[in-house]
Amino acid sequence: MKILLLGHKGMLGSDLGAQFRYRHEVIGMDVEDIDITRSEECQKVVREIKPQIVVNAAAYTNVDGCETAREECFAVNAEAVKNIAEACRGKNITIVHFSTDYVFDGTGGLPYREEDVCNPINVYGASKLAGENYLRTLTDNYILIRTAWLYGAKGKSFVQTILNKAKTTNKLTVVNDQTGSPTCTRDLAAATELLIDKNVRGIFHVTNRGNCTWHEFAKRILKEAHLDTIEISPIKTNQLQRAALRPAYSVLGMQKFMTATGKTMQPWQLAFQDYYQHLTGRTCCSA
Ligand SMILES: NC(=O)c1ccc[n+]([C@@H]2O[C@H](COP(=O)([O-])OP(=O)(O)OC[C@H]3O[C@@H](n4cnc5c(N)ncnc54)[C@H](OP(=O)(O)O)[C@@H]3O)[C@@H](O)[C@H]2O)c1
Repeated sequence: MKILLLGHKGMLGSDLGAQFRYRHEVIGMDVEDIDITRSEECQKVVREIKPQIVVNAAAYTNVDGCETAREECFAVNAEAVKNIAEACRGKNITIVHFSTDYVFDGTGGLPYREEDVCNPINVYGASKLAGENYLRTLTDNYILIRTAWLYGAKGKSFVQTILNKAKTTNKLTVVNDQTGSPTCTRDLAAATELLIDKNVRGIFHVTNRGNCTWHEFAKRILKEAHLDTIEISPIKTNQLQRAALRPAYSVLGMQKFMTATGKTMQPWQLAFQDYYQHLTGRTCCSA
């Protein structure tokens, strides 16, 4: 199939491109090729490329930055989704789009289901929910994947932050009152292709399996990197004074994904081990 991949240089986008290229014709574009906040650019690109699938991995992902750059954040995460949906309308093009666990307020204690009520507590979450709503209103021909706590070979992530900090200090503090599911972008890319292959439509939650706090994740990162002599103390979110609020519990239930594909995602601990070994060249062929 011919896939137009938007945001192909991003953390997830680069792994989606690598995943799709085995079996599909992929036209990757990023901000220098198309500004998705401009409706006419979306119309032109879709008209000229005539893809069967548009995968949108482009987004404004600086969660704290969104609090002050509200307009830009909504332009990319919400209005641009409208532009893409309108450009694909009536052309039999499937849209694959990504959203976030941050559409939920995190006050629950059970994994969120796809149909649970959304109630974002920060601007980023509100903008992603607005994007979801545009998509759902404008077309039925979509796969909307909510995911969480991404890390990958490219781009900034919590994993790189912890490894970088570990180079300059032997004492770290990490929050221990937010629970979620760390997710490897390579695994998410494979799961995305699986959903496309199954020809499903609708909203799906996809993360690596299991959950932990950021503090537990940081401990695992340092252990894998043989840096577990570094002291890592748990702190509370409010001690960090970050611009955006974060949901305390944003685990996503994946029953719908498992029913649709007959597959489960690997546990986050194994996914991270695979990722880290691949990153450091300790294996020649991680899955
Ligand atoms: N990262 C996470 O932990 C996380 C968690 C849950 C959900 N998600 C969702 O997963 C998806 C992928 O996230 P990611 O972390 O891989 O994102 P990312 O690394 O920030 O990549 C996003 C890409 O979109 C591009 N972009 C930004 N504005 C654009 C515009 N106006 N037109 C065209 N391209 C534009 C960016 O270019 P520049 O870099 O030049 O701006 C970047 O290459 C997003 O939908 C995100 O909301 C991410």
